[in-house]
Amino acid sequence: MTVKTNKEVLLEVQNLKTYYTNKYKVVFKILDGVSFKIYRGTTLGILGPSGSGKSVLARSILNLVERPGKIVEGEVIYKGKDLLKAPEEVLNDLRGKEISLILQNAPGSFDPTRDMTFATSQPFRAHTKEKYANPEVKMLVVSQLQVVAISEPVKTSEKFSHQLSGGESQRVKIASALINNPTLVIADEPVANIDATVARQILDLFQIMKEKYQLTMILIAHNLGVLAELSDYVAILYAGKIIEHGDVETIFYHPKHPFTQGLFYASPSMAPRGRLKPIPGDEPDPTNYPSGCRFHPRCEYAIEKCRREEPPLVDLGNDHTVLCWRIEEIPEFTSE
Ligand SMILES: Nc1ncnc2c1ncn2[C@@H]1O[C@H](COP(=O)(O)OP(=O)(O)O)[C@@H](O)[C@H]1O
Ligand code: SF4
Ligand SMILES: [Mg+2]
Repeated sequence: MTVKTNKEVLLEVQNLKTYYTNKYKVVFKILDGVSFKIYRGTTLGILGPSGSGKSVLARSILNLVERPGKIVEGEVIYKGKDLLKAPEEVLNDLRGKEISLILQNAPGSFDPTRDMTFATSQPFRAHTKEKYANPEVKMLVVSQLQVVAISEPVKTSEKFSHQLSGGESQRVKIASALINNPTLVIADEPVANIDATVARQILDLFQIMKEKYQLTMILIAHNLGVLAELSDYVAILYAGKIIEHGDVETIFYHPKHPFTQGLFYASPSMAPRGRLKPIPGDEPDPTNYPSGCRFHPRCEYAIEKCRREEPPLVDLGNDHTVLCWRIEEIPEFTSE
């Protein structure tokens, strides 16, 4: 996969902090200083363990964090403007139009009482005030369902969510997300909990859509294969921060951060033969992160300094950045 050379930053997230406070006033620092940027026309894959805040990040970008969550600090600069400071009308204008969010597969994400014409056209109706009954809405939906390779688009447009297969329902969501020709699409685990064959088709569809519409995309996943396939760049989320970022080849062939390397050594498809090993220790507790480098209790390269001081973000060039004290000492990852 070639990374585009005309590097216009479309979105930049800076020092984003989204916290949840429970009724005992315990603060969960889910995102605690997340920074990254996305170049126009590229796909950024965001990888992180389950519960690491990937979905919270997707919502934070559109300033859609639900209570008791709150964005306490940071900037989300889209086309030069901070979305976190934008008035609600401006955000509503962007959401579902220029920036489209495909939510993580959740039961009940469609209204069971409305058909797929209604579901697919929702972002279009919201932004144009067209009525659902307008025959043009139906025509648009049918053509949109064709775009996402639904074989019987007219029939499907009249179906209800319980009549759709998992694959169809994902296609409808994609059709709906693309109906307003968005510039940026945020897809949160679009193939999680879908069987492998259908997941394969959905990934192919994303690939086609990406090229056809020159989408800029944030693809959230916890599956390495999914990310490797669609991403131009990959960012890894750990303990509320992006601990490594790079182009997809660099991340997959020359990962530097011990956590990123650990993910590969723990992956049956990536680990060198006979060297499969889990990352030791527990996932970090967002109410009480370790001091210094937050990965230090699990890191085989940790030294005293790692325990005491927050590591710097080291820029290795070519958009490869790593949050670590000991870059020079970490051996190359080897898949042999
Ligand atoms: N509305 C909420 N209120 C309180 N905690 C939340 C809320 N949404 C998510 N969380 C917590 O934030 C953490 C990250 O969640 P999430 O972003 O869904 O993780 P991921 O998508 O990486 O699996 C989890 O511990 C989750 O329990
Ligand atoms: S800063 Fe230290 S503890 Fe953290 S990842 Fe690097 S070597 Fe490991
Ligand atoms: Mg999630």
